[in-house]
Amino acid sequence: MDIAVIGSNMVDLITYTNVMPKAGETLEAPEFALGCGGKGANQAVAAAKLGAKVMMVSKVGEDLFAENTVDNLRQYGVDTQHVTVAPGTSSGVAPIFVDDQSQNRILIIKGANAMLAPADIDAAAESLKACRLIVLQLEIPLPTVYYAIDFARKHGIKVILNPAPAVAGLDIAYACQCDFFMPNETELEILTGLPVATEDDVLRAGRVLLGHGLKNLVITLGSRGSLWMQGDEVYRVKPTPVQAVDTSGAGDAFIGCFAHSLIEQGDIARAMQAASAYAACSVTQKGTQRSYPDADTFHRFLTA
Ligand code: RIB
Ligand code: NA
Repeated sequence: MDIAVIGSNMVDLITYTNVMPKAGETLEAPEFALGCGGKGANQAVAAAKLGAKVMMVSKVGEDLFAENTVDNLRQYGVDTQHVTVAPGTSSGVAPIFVDDQSQNRILIIKGANAMLAPADIDAAAESLKACRLIVLQLEIPLPTVYYAIDFARKHGIKVILNPAPAVAGLDIAYACQCDFFMPNETELEILTGLPVATEDDVLRAGRVLLGHGLKNLVITLGSRGSLWMQGDEVYRVKPTPVQAVDTSGAGDAFIGCFAHSLIEQGDIARAMQAASAYAACSVTQKGTQRSYPDADTFHRFLTA
């Protein structure tokens, strides 16, 4: 295995609408789509679509959605041996609202994801030890995230921590144990309490985080591109101009591609360039995982 994602899976319930109902009001929206999502699964699928060997440690509920989620991961070649059922729970679901500016608003109901425990990492330990990179997000309990970081350190495995969704109480000392800390602009704002409106703002907030002792800070800025900060160095990646239709899951596309590229080529700047283009390609299609290009489609996008 190249990559292990220890994280969430969700069923995405995507409504395309420009209006939200008020209390007591019923409104009609023009379009709906059901898809497989969850930040962990999205990142795993993106890396797998590009050709990485990926395993997931994740929990599904005891419901209709569970089998579909596992089948979907398998179909993309993600190893699901350590995707298990949390009895008596519902699977994670995410009602998502996308407007005609392609902006997304996401609610998550963690369900079974809230049951992913350190014991699940122990149960997968032998497979995990064979991985070169562990990828983490924050849709599972924080103690499980910290346990995974300790596990990775103990076994010399690289770690990417994507602090999404942002949790104000995240222990920054743990983030400093990771090789890559990868927030988006909103998460950066929540983690630092600082504004992120301009590039100067972002750099200032980034330096505050780096000041705690982070190794590599990668900040994704949506249509403003992305930044990699290490010590005093700043590497900027310009956005790839595209006609965006749905930005949901674009951050996960970035991280999945970054992980794949890092494992394959070991070059951070090139991984940033690839990830940025991959995320841009994903926003040209509706949905989360279903919008992620496979290696051939991505190659055609890059050479178009
Ligand atoms: O990052 C996008 C994802 O966030 C969606 O797929 C949704 O499931 C939530 O986890
Ligand atoms: Na998309």
